Formats: sequence, structure tokens, C-alpha cells
Amino acid sequence: MDEAKNYIIKTEVELVIPAMIKEKMVGFMTLGIKKNNRIYTPEDINMFSILAAQAALAIENALFYHKMKEIQEKMIRNEKLAMMGKVAGAVGHDIRNPLSSIKYVTYYLNDIKEKQNEEFEKYISILSSEVENAEEIISSLLDLSKASVNKTKIHLQKTVRSILEKLNKYKNVKIKTDIPDKLYIEADQLKFIRLMQNLIKNALQAIKGEGVVEIKAEKKDNHTYIKIKDTGIGMDKETLRHIFEPLYTKKESGVGLGMSIIQDIIDKHGWKINARSEKGKGTEFVIEVS
Ligand SMILES: Nc1ncnc2c1ncn2[C@@H]1O[C@H](COP(=O)(O)OP(=O)(O)OP(=O)(O)O)[C@@H](O)[C@H]1O
Ligand SMILES: [Mg+2]
Repeated sequence: MDEAKNYIIKTEVELVIPAMIKEKMVGFMTLGIKKNNRIYTPEDINMFSILAAQAALAIENALFYHKMKEIQEKMIRNEKLAMMGKVAGAVGHDIRNPLSSIKYVTYYLNDIKEKQNEEFEKYISILSSEVENAEEIISSLLDLSKASVNKTKIHLQKTVRSILEKLNKYKNVKIKTDIPDKLYIEADQLKFIRLMQNLIKNALQAIKGEGVVEIKAEKKDNHTYIKIKDTGIGMDKETLRHIFEPLYTKKESGVGLGMSIIQDIIDKHGWKINARSEKGKGTEFVIEVS
């Protein structure tokens, strides 16, 4: 309101006409001194009121269009996710069985590797890491097919610590955490772990040389805010707009599932997530846990 007042004083406004829709003001029209220096007549005011009402309608339409577009994008995203979830549910289970056999054989071959040569060892390690990757993709897809959220009380500091312990170590990245000891949240434990893993993984992958990943949490006004910030490559606005779309990736070996799973978990909990990023500087995600 102060801003509006200053604007009116600064620009020597003579007449202010509210742009109303029903009882709601969506903006206002400001007019300067009349060219002929006369005061505004009731007819003038009447005419400008009609104009202001039309402008109000145009503003409302634009806002509505924007909102509709957002809803439509969300619906398309959810539809894609639901479809992927269905496919995953159908094939994931069947793929898991042969994958388990491959895994078992890999372990077995690994055990007898001393009888083999160096090349054999190299291929075995490729095989096991690829099996692990495939398993991870299947688990995330299967997560999508599970609609329900089973909320329990989670100790944030301990949970994040255990996620970090299990993470592949990145020597060039310093991971800092700042999470108060007595902070608990209500969440589906497995889903929350996956959400954090995906965010932290993206943060680590974004750092090309040396860098820092910070994980902070605080409670403010009945909400818990969890922040994951990295000093990585960052994103331009266009990339940022697409990151939550299923199968959107800019990485050579990426699938583009991480962020859409994050969005799905956020939606299922009724939370919010915000991203801020600057190309070349880094990225920050803030989760608002309700
Ligand atoms: N912290 C980040 N810094 C920079 N870019 C990011 C960050 N997080 C996400 N992105 C961008 O968003 C895209 C989508 O992320 P998402 O996690 O969905 O897929 P991915 O990491 O490419 O593959 P996947 O997670 O399936 O292995 C990434 O390819 C990357 O371009
Ligand atoms: Mg990812």
C-alpha cells in the first residue's frame, strides 16, 4: 500500500479509479491532470470506470489463464507419472526376478575371481554396479505405483545422518549439516529417504570441481523448512521450468526420474517445494513440511 501511495505522490496523480470485479479490487487506474487543466467531470469518471472495469476483467482473465496453465501442466505431469507407475507396477516385479538371479551370479563370480584375470574383475565390477543401478530405477518406479503414504514420526537429524552415511563418497565435496536435535517431522519414512537421497544426489552431481552441499532444517511458524543448497553448476530459467517433468534430464547418464519422484512424494504428503538456482553459482531447494 505504501508503494501505491508513493507512486501517487511521485507521479502527481489527479484521479484514481479502482478496477473492480464484483466487490474485489484487482488493480487501479491512475490519471494525471487533464490536458485542458479542467477538473474531471462525472461523465469522465463514468467513462474511465467502465474502462477500468474492462481492464480488471482482462487482468482477471490473464491470471485465470496462468492458473489454468499451471493446473494443466500439473495434470499432464501427474498423468504421465500415474502411467509410469502403472507400467512399473506391471513389469517392475517381473524384471526384479531375473535381476536378482544376475545379482546372485555376479556375487558368485566375484567370489571366485582370484582364479581369473584382471579383465574379468573389471567386467564383474561393471556388472554389479549396473545391476545396482537397474535395481534402483525399478525401486523408484515401484514407489510411484504405491499411492498410499504411511506417516510416522521421524527424527530429522538421525535420518539425514543415516542417508549421508550410506551415500557414495564424493571427495571433492564438503557436506555440511545444520539440523536441530529435537526436530521431528511426520512423514512416510521410505518416501522421505528417497526424496532426500534424490535431492542430495542431484546436488552432488551438479558439483564439477570442488564444492559444498549444505543441508539445513529449521522450524518456523508451525512449519519445518528443509533446505538443500549446492555450489554446483546451477540452472538457467528454462531448465528450472522443466525439472519436475518425468524423464526430463540434462545428464548423459540421467534418466530424469529423480525430480518427478520428489514432486510425487511432496504432493502425496501435501508439502511444498521451491527451487532457486543461478547458472554457474548453484541451486537451493526448500521443502516446506506442513
Ligand atoms: N541441484 C541441481 N543443480 C543443477 N541442476 C539440477 C539440480 N537438480 C536437478 N537439476 C536438473 O534437473 C534435471 C532433472 O533432474 P532429475 O533428478 O529428475 O533427473 P536426473 O538427475 O537427470 O536423472 P535421475 O535422477 O533419474 O538419475 C537434471 O538433469 C538437471 O539438469
Ligand atoms: Mg537426479
